[in-house]
Amino acid sequence: MTGIPFRSVRSLEDLAAAVDLDGTRVFLRADFNVPMQDGVITDDLRIRAALPTLNWLVERGARVVCASHRGRPRGIDPELSMAPIAERLGELIDASVTLAPGVVGAGVEGAVELLEPGDVLLLENLRYEPGETANDPSFAGALSALADAYVNDAFGAAHRAHASIVGPPSILPSAAGRLLHKEVEVLGTMLNSPRRPFVAVLGGAKVSDKLGVIDALLEHCDDILIGGAMCFTFLAAQGYSVGESLMEPSHVEQCERLLKTGRVHIPDDVVVAEAMKSDAVVELVPASAIPEDMMGLDIGPETTARYAQLVTGAGMVFWNGPMGVFEMEPFAAGTEGLAEAIAESGGFTVVGGGDSAAALRQFGLADRVDHVSTGGGASLEYLEQGDLPGLQVLRSN
Ligand code: 3PG
Repeated sequence: MTGIPFRSVRSLEDLAAAVDLDGTRVFLRADFNVPMQDGVITDDLRIRAALPTLNWLVERGARVVCASHRGRPRGIDPELSMAPIAERLGELIDASVTLAPGVVGAGVEGAVELLEPGDVLLLENLRYEPGETANDPSFAGALSALADAYVNDAFGAAHRAHASIVGPPSILPSAAGRLLHKEVEVLGTMLNSPRRPFVAVLGGAKVSDKLGVIDALLEHCDDILIGGAMCFTFLAAQGYSVGESLMEPSHVEQCERLLKTGRVHIPDDVVVAEAMKSDAVVELVPASAIPEDMMGLDIGPETTARYAQLVTGAGMVFWNGPMGVFEMEPFAAGTEGLAEAIAESGGFTVVGGGDSAAALRQFGLADRVDHVSTGGGASLEYLEQGDLPGLQVLRSN
């Protein structure tokens, strides 16, 4: 799979050449789906990542109607309101930011009318409306009616063919924002001009989510290093018993096929415990000898060292998914060792996915990689398909 050259998608400059932005209503689709705990934003990377585009629009006097989803609400859920995002946005930009009284409807239209050039209105959570995920044309039409031009900077949601992603750009003059552009440029470089050796490190819980991307990456990568709970289906494919570890029996055959390539690497040793808890008593065992009543919760030191060596000598590294339950101290060493090796690598390093980015932050290494992607699912889908629904529609417009 080869990535489609990004230059075929319209840029902000193309939009400015086609539309006088001063005083024009511009719909900006961002991905402000940020992690929160007890009402407090724990990582505002996605908000800060949208600022170059937002500031560019504000500086040009656009009346910005900004929108994002947050979480996966079923109908209106005050817990998932955009209010904390509006507050944070107001702190980060030099513009008036107000929160709309809803997503669409008369109240929202009234709020749009009140916008002065350079003002920002943040709509409520797009997913309060069922038409968003259903890609309902009448909801897409209602969103489009709020603006005269459209910019997509929501890389993290560009793999979703939802109304706000694919609807307005098929009606309004449209462009990709700075973040969307940068993300796809980085991933496109990995697909089209990889520096060798190109090593991918994949972890996370389910192998079923990653089989497609492993197949696609095998066309581009030299080595794929497997960790996280998904490694146990590979270990079962190797003929080992995996005890109580997470495992997907229906995918063992596909893992067997992938192992035969000789380029998919699996652990030699594993950290096991009777249960996943932070005060668990752990044991280190060979991957071929996981006890019946134990579950694997991290890769072992021998595996970490072997993987670290491959990563350190790589020309390019892509990492998605932790190696173990890094949030709990007894199972953090594998992910930490890998994160350190990626930080030390002289190659071009890209980390995609909320969990891997959170691990980098936990170990104080976030500024030691070349690119931390704002989209986990989106980056995997781009690497697998070479394109995204949110890009396709910007290209055909
Ligand atoms: C993400 O957090 O990966 C994006 O915001 C997409 O969210 P979703 O998986 O709920 O569509």
